[in-house]
Amino acid sequence: MKKDKNILLGVNVDHVATLREARGVNYPDPLQIALIAEKNGADSITIHLREDRRHIQDHDVERMIAVIDSRVNFEMAATDEMIDIACRLKPYDCCLVPEKRQELTTEGGLDVYSRVDFLSSCVEKLKKSGIRVSIFVDPDPKQIESSQMIGADAVEIHTGLYADSANSSDQEYELNRIKECAVHADRIGVRVNAGHGLHYENTSDIAAIREIKELNIGHSIIARAVNSGIAEAVSEMKSIMIKSRK
Ligand code: PXP
Repeated sequence: MKKDKNILLGVNVDHVATLREARGVNYPDPLQIALIAEKNGADSITIHLREDRRHIQDHDVERMIAVIDSRVNFEMAATDEMIDIACRLKPYDCCLVPEKRQELTTEGGLDVYSRVDFLSSCVEKLKKSGIRVSIFVDPDPKQIESSQMIGADAVEIHTGLYADSANSSDQEYELNRIKECAVHADRIGVRVNAGHGLHYENTSDIAAIREIKELNIGHSIIARAVNSGIAEAVSEMKSIMIKSRK
């Protein structure tokens, strides 16, 4: 497989919807933020429609797929409900992830190896609808090979353990596992993406792995946007208040 010099960025905008849902109003709008992300270098927009609809809503998925110019990467649990939604709305990409009701965020990769039959029927349905299918897996060659076996086009390697490593030797160990898996996936012809827990300090070592085609990043980008946008947001409000007294 050709090693591309370019690396693509998928921006996850779930947190924008989390903020909106916390107030039960219609802003901030994840679509509006996705369009700004696209204008500024995002190569795709990732949204996760969770079973409990805690952030992204069904109407967000519909609007996003209708309006986004680049690609929508629809993250979803492998359930009949989600497969029906994906096959109806046809995002460019689907990423199958494990989903637990109580978790704060996706906690690990999907165990493809133990659920080959069920997951291959999910992949088949999605691919029949023309959707490119990726599977979120831990950096484990067995999971990568199983993903290929069930017909997935890509894997997204879970970088969470790397990102959460307690010290630099653990982090190096995790980085090496990711590198080896990326090389392995690339060699056997599976597209390699990666993501989870990546931020402004830990992304460059992952982005340097040539076999990785795309990184999906959410929390750190939205957090940075809050930090860097707060000054303007406060001063604009203050100036509205001052002007109203003139
Ligand atoms: N990839 C997958 C499969 C995810 O579930 C998530 C979180 O929704 C991400 C990437 C992005 O993770 P983070 O928000 O930590 O950047």
